[in-house]
This record gives sequence, structure tokens and C-alpha cells, in this order.
Amino acid sequence: MNDLQLDIDIEGEIKLLKKDLNAVILAHYYQESEIQDLADFVGDSLELARKARSTDADVIVFAGVHFMAETAKILNPDKLVLLPDLDAGCSLADSCPAPLFKAFRERHPDHVAITYINCTAEVKALSDIICTSSNAEKIINQIPEDKPVLFSPDRNLGKYLMKKTGRKMLLWDGSCIVHETFSERKIIDLKVQYPDAKIIAHPECEDALLSHAEFVGSTSKLLSFILSDNSSRYIVATEPGIIHQMEKIAPQKAFIAAPPDKNCNCNECPFMRLNTMEKLYLCMRDRKPEIILSEDIIKRALRPIERMLEMS
Ligand code: 13P
Ligand code: SF4
Repeated sequence: MNDLQLDIDIEGEIKLLKKDLNAVILAHYYQESEIQDLADFVGDSLELARKARSTDADVIVFAGVHFMAETAKILNPDKLVLLPDLDAGCSLADSCPAPLFKAFRERHPDHVAITYINCTAEVKALSDIICTSSNAEKIINQIPEDKPVLFSPDRNLGKYLMKKTGRKMLLWDGSCIVHETFSERKIIDLKVQYPDAKIIAHPECEDALLSHAEFVGSTSKLLSFILSDNSSRYIVATEPGIIHQMEKIAPQKAFIAAPPDKNCNCNECPFMRLNTMEKLYLCMRDRKPEIILSEDIIKRALRPIERMLEMS
């Protein structure tokens, strides 16, 4: 499917299908530029969940990864939710299989389970509160001091939040393959070459890398930072798809994608990049692949997502 070439005006066809289906296209900042430009709304995980909850479209076309489309389905069980490629997963979600997570919870029955939105619907259904990197700190700060917390599945975000909140938490040992790929040494070399550049990073990066960052935040927070900050150059340690938005909102500034350790494109999320314009068109034309979840999972996963939305 990746090499699929369609001899049609894909953009034009997608726009027609959008009208026919009364569909909304929601895209994450890590999608390829063309998809971001075509989408009705581009955002981070929290903004996309909010948008999915408030839309009055009949069909949600989700240009992002599986757990994001699942969240949209949980919030809209009666709507058709399409994902251009069902294999667009997430290494964090993969690192936390529901049966192991259930056993983890059972070993710590007195703990509140705060779970990063990058997890499967089954894991959400087993959690108390969902969070994203935009609202995690705020949510943790609302948990009574004497209540122990389990934070899953990203150990890097968990460690970062422990530092920020001063709160000890029990962490699940998962990580993002993309954010762990950045080379600390190459980033320092870049900083030597461009001393005026600020290093900005997503909290899914490892501790050592975060210690060099002048600003740490979710994708939306990185965007608002570069807009309000007075530097003219940044080294961006997150998936480089976001640079498209940075260049759009701050065309006078320069953005350097933090390089990966090896000579590869592994700073690009291989899951996010499975979605292409062709697959976006095909999923709308064929009204599939769609996200299907059982009623039971939807009911149980909705509660911790709603708690997140109330607390953030
Ligand atoms: P944001 O919520 O910051 O957009 O992060 C999503 C994600 O998958 C980061 O890798
Ligand atoms: Fe998951 Fe990492 Fe891709 Fe984000 S960048 S979707 S955390 S694999």
C-alpha cells in the first residue's frame, strides 16, 4: 500500500468525500505535511481528544495512530471512526499489554493508576485516570499526597513528571522508540555549531537528553514556546513532522531536527508515517478500515478519559 500511486486528484477527491460523508479529518502534528495541510484540525493528543468529543461530523477520519483513533471512538461510539492504516500503532502502547498491566495493578491495589493516553483501549479500561503530556503534571498535582500512584507506560515521561511534581511514582518500564533514538552527542555538536539555538524536547526523551533542553513540553507546548520565545533558532528533539507547523507559525525562525544516533530516518515515527494521502483517500472512499471496539471496553475506557477531561 505504501507505494500505491493513484492517477487522480487525491486532494480534490478527499475534499469531495469529506462533504459526502459529513466527515472531519483530525491530524496529529507528526503526520506528513500534506496531510496536516488538508486536515480540518491539527493538534496534540489532548486537543485531538477534545476535538473528537465536540465534533458534530458523522465520520471521524483520524490521521494519527491507533490509540488516538480508539480514543475518538470511545468518545463517539455511534460514529464511524476511520484510520488510514490499522497498523499505525505505537511502541509505548505495545510495551504495555493489558494482561500484564492488569497483573501490575493487582500487585498494587492501593495505588491510583494514571495512564498516559499512548496505550490501548483495554489498558485505558483498566486505568483510573488517563493523561497526556500536556496535562499530566496538572492531573498528578490533583491526587492527594498520601495516595500512591502507578504511572504507565512511559518511564521517561514518568521520570520527568516525578522531577516536576516532586512526587514519587511507581513506573511501568515502557518507552517510545522514536524519542529514545536521539543522539545526545550529535545534539551537543549542533549546539556548539549553533550556540544561539535553543534545544527543545518532548518529555518522552531520555533523562540525559532532557537535561540539555532549555524547554521541555508536549507537542502543543513546544509550538506555543517557539512562538512566544525570542530566539531565532531551535534544535527540536521530537518527531520532525512538527517542524512543518513551526515553520508555518514562525516562518522567520530556523528549526533543526534533532538527529538520531544512527544514519537512518529513525527520528520519524514509523507508525505515524504509515498514513499517506493515498491511504487517507482510500479509507474515505471505502469507509474502512474502521475502529471497532466492544461496548464493554468503550464503557470502561470512557470513565478514565472523562476524568482526564474534567481534571485538565
Ligand atoms: P503529544 O500529546 O505531545 O502530541 O504526544 C503524542 C505522542 O505520541 C508523542 O510521541
Ligand atoms: Fe508512539 Fe513514539 Fe510514535 Fe508517539 S512517536 S506515536 S509515542 S511510537
